[in-house]
Amino acid sequence: MKKAPQWDALVRAAFLARRKAYAPYSGYAVGAALLASNGRIFRGCNVENASYPVSICAERVALGAAIAAGCREFDGIVVATRGPKAGTPCGLCRQALSEFAPDLPVLLVTPEGDRAHWTLSQLLPGSFGPKDLKERTERS
Ligand code: THU
Repeated sequence: MKKAPQWDALVRAAFLARRKAYAPYSGYAVGAALLASNGRIFRGCNVENASYPVSICAERVALGAAIAAGCREFDGIVVATRGPKAGTPCGLCRQALSEFAPDLPVLLVTPEGDRAHWTLSQLLPGSFGPKDLKERTERS
């Protein structure tokens, strides 16, 4: 059985990451902490841009850092926003994470104390992934 994530350390890392967010346009600061199966924690924050669509979400910054470090298996992610109700990952981030961990445990948190536990497969049911390309491409 997979090890249950150490949520406390991940929550702390996600709040720390959120403090680095560059979100001057939306004002919506997000931090993410992604736990690799080797125990490493990768942080990400959103990085906005004056050319708005160039902006990237916290979850995909964390995922990119992990992949660049050679980690491709994950045990959990914490996403930190603020307010009475935690923000949920956008569709692009759900898809990006699903490539590597379709059933990833997801914990959404705020400093005000909201906590919401999900799995990625609950957030992205019927997902499209590597399996769907097999036997459907011209090259197969
Ligand atoms: N954002 C994230 O970082 N993660 C999400 O899952 C939702 C949206 C960012 C993108 C943008 O910088 C800001 O939040 C408002 O959409």
